[in-house]
Amino acid sequence: MTAGLPPLAPPSRGELEPIELASRDEIAALQLARLRWTLRHAYDNVAHFRARCEAEGAHPDDLKQLAELARFPFTTKDDLRRTYPFGMFAVPREKLLRLHASSGTTGKPTVVGYTKHDLDIWADLVARSIRASGGRPGDLIHIAYGYGLFTGGLGAHYGAERLGCTVIPVSGGMTERQVQIIQDFKPTIIMVTPSYMLAIADEFERQGLDPRTSSLKIGIHGAEPWTNALRGEIERRMAMHAVDIYGLSEVLGPGVANECVESKDGLHLWEDHFYPEVIDPATGTVLPDGEVGELVLTTLTKEALPMVRYRTRDLTRLLPGTARSMRRMEKITGRSDDMLIIRGVNLFPSQIEELILKQQALSGHYLLEVSRPRQLDELKVIAELRPEATPNSAAAEERIAAALQHDVKSLIGVTARIEIVPVGKIERSIGKARRVIDLRPKG
Ligand code: DLL
Repeated sequence: MTAGLPPLAPPSRGELEPIELASRDEIAALQLARLRWTLRHAYDNVAHFRARCEAEGAHPDDLKQLAELARFPFTTKDDLRRTYPFGMFAVPREKLLRLHASSGTTGKPTVVGYTKHDLDIWADLVARSIRASGGRPGDLIHIAYGYGLFTGGLGAHYGAERLGCTVIPVSGGMTERQVQIIQDFKPTIIMVTPSYMLAIADEFERQGLDPRTSSLKIGIHGAEPWTNALRGEIERRMAMHAVDIYGLSEVLGPGVANECVESKDGLHLWEDHFYPEVIDPATGTVLPDGEVGELVLTTLTKEALPMVRYRTRDLTRLLPGTARSMRRMEKITGRSDDMLIIRGVNLFPSQIEELILKQQALSGHYLLEVSRPRQLDELKVIAELRPEATPNSAAAEERIAAALQHDVKSLIGVTARIEIVPVGKIERSIGKARRVIDLRPKG
């Protein structure tokens, strides 16, 4: 735990929803009833899902216990693309109150929609997530997730209002103004991607302000993978608690799972609305709790876009509940599609992030460049110095690079070239950071 953080009281039992305190049996019974409803609803109303079930000989009436969900087909981003834009919706378009879309890096965006009931549940779950993060009615919340087709801004917004907080809907970008608003309005909570949080911390310092003296007590960070090392970095630089929020558009948006500020030991999955499985990504077999694999989520209450066994590509494992009875998922290490294979070694950007942050002179801004100059893959780690840590000689800089190179070789097994760059050299993103530039020829 980081030293010098503001004291926060965990919520009293009376502040929690009864289901947050329910027994495992109660949770499982609720999940089974809701799962049967979801399967029936999707089967009756989504032709694509029905056809997939028929092809695999699975029928909603067959499901008598939760584990039997494994008989049903997976849903992937590809299913959404093939039915673009509205083909996976289980209600007529007129029943939708809102659409969002996730851009993705290739091809068509995936479009998601919400009925009034869906929006209500989404706001409830984000409110629950903010409460788990330490927020209370009356808090002033600065939202720097992007507003628009991305689910981050509006998802956070309505959840914060639902909890009874005062919302400052700043959206992402215009970093100078982010700092000015924090200084003038004095919010106690900020909701923003962890990488953009670091950029805001830099901007404080650029303006000659100490971010540790700001009014912020809690940061609720997600939308991209981030490590516990980065949590430590944000907590030290901002003197506030940094808590993890998880979600994805296809399943809801932010608010699928959230850490509790009193334990910070992984994210409690809101199991009354989502049924989680972890599978071996290569074979599709369901793995027991505790084993690392790909997270697969089934919605239990969504009307507009019921999702059955959605393959998130996110790698994690399921753990028993602690601060709440609902199970936790471990902090995500990466997405299976972000995994780099460098000369036969599998590696995730988050592994490099941890090693960079072990070096006191380096900040959390970094970029990995992969190329193939002479038939062999090469990895270059470009890491930025902290503002206050500018080394006074080339030799000092070389020592930092050598230490990082040594760690990457001995702990990950890859020989990397290290380039240390001055503050501000790595382009800041105002939302999800781009960590990898792959220059290798395609195909
Ligand atoms: O990123 C929803 C969101 C907004 C979550 C704001 C949290 C805060 P998408 O744009 O559809 O939705 O991207 C979903 O982002 O499958 C993960 O790969 C990644 N992701 C989201 N939250 C986390 C997290 C939003 N806490 C994809 N840790 C997901 C690691 C995350 N990765």
